Amino acid sequence: MQISSISANEILASGGYPTIEVIVTLDNGVRGRSSVPYGASAGSHEATVLVDGDESRYNGKGVKQAVANVVEKIFPLIKNIDPQDQRALDQAMIDLDGTPNKANLGGNAILAVSLAVAKAVAKTQGKPFYEYIRDTYQTGVDFLVLPQPMVVVIEGGKHADETTDLQEYCISAVGNGSVMENVRKTMEAYHQLRKILKKNGLSINVGNEGAFAPNGIPNNEAPFEYIVQAIIQAGYKPGEDLAIAVDAAASEFYQDGKYNLAVEKRILNAAELIAYYEGWLKKYPIVSYEDMLAEDDWENWTKLNQVTKKYGVEHIGDDLTATNMERLQKAIDLDAMTAILIKLNQAGTLTETVDTCMLARKNNMATVTSHRGGGETNDTSMVDLAVAVGSRFVKVGPTRGERVCKYNRLMEIERETRG
Ligand code: PGA
Ligand code: ZN
Repeated sequence: MQISSISANEILASGGYPTIEVIVTLDNGVRGRSSVPYGASAGSHEATVLVDGDESRYNGKGVKQAVANVVEKIFPLIKNIDPQDQRALDQAMIDLDGTPNKANLGGNAILAVSLAVAKAVAKTQGKPFYEYIRDTYQTGVDFLVLPQPMVVVIEGGKHADETTDLQEYCISAVGNGSVMENVRKTMEAYHQLRKILKKNGLSINVGNEGAFAPNGIPNNEAPFEYIVQAIIQAGYKPGEDLAIAVDAAASEFYQDGKYNLAVEKRILNAAELIAYYEGWLKKYPIVSYEDMLAEDDWENWTKLNQVTKKYGVEHIGDDLTATNMERLQKAIDLDAMTAILIKLNQAGTLTETVDTCMLARKNNMATVTSHRGGGETNDTSMVDLAVAVGSRFVKVGPTRGERVCKYNRLMEIERETRG
């Protein structure tokens, strides 16, 4: 089997800036298509999103160079590699790039090719994409337990304007019930949240990820109260049916070794911040804490991990680990966290992403596969990946087409695997 042609295009992502789409055609005529997202609060250890920097187009954020790299550099390299050997194909692109963060060819260019090829081969083999990924990498997942929804319901930080310092407050399903039922429950709570925000005089505008981005919110704690009320008002038990997951994206408010909570007009050191966070664990039905500290604040991650363990709360690394095997290994060695956020475009190839997930699994760490806050597309590969590696959750926003298509794909997979 061979790749007979590749086309690459600059398309729009949900943030209104371009991203790259790749269409691969195999010599049997079968096509695979993929497009990749980008982050708003991207960490500094992620694969590079290669943008043109030409200020005369899209404020410098065009991706024509990444498009050219696919056609002129990547295609000549991979056209002689068997597309069924995804690991070899990804490795060839990593080697051609030659940098640790895919700065040369662009992580966006490489990932779009990686996924488009995999999808074309999956189609050729007549397998759903999640099954193809599972079989190709022998993840050993049986699809009996599917990832559950972790729905972002309030967003702040870099995803919105004039709201909380913390980036995301989510509602996640508790337990392993039906995905379809759990999507319904979380969405019912989301709709109650709308009423509660209004009652409190807050706006119900939505942010980048389709979650509410209320401005004028008094502090970083208020969302917990609103969400607990929303869960109750929807007819569910906080902590039993639905619970709260938080992503602080703390690198965004880390300045000169301290944490600047602008909304509260307070600057805290790590010890004070950890004590503040522990207060919430005592009061609210929180099931996970993500990026509560800055991406290189290793020492304090280990300290917070001791605290979250006391409360049985998952402690998730996102910017800290950047879907990167070496950083994950370091987090394991330092006992810095108990779960890892997975984003395909942080790694930049399907193979590296799956390898990172498998390393987590081997160490009894849960994976949470996530959308991006900067710009998403209607590509649902992240959901198939989540199913293939047995992620505990998929983290996605509640509204907007590029978000709900992920939940729709997850529910479709539930129907397929449940017969
Ligand atoms: P990002 O946010 O895609 O803007 O980085 C999502 C997250 O931090 O989980
Ligand atoms: Zn995050």
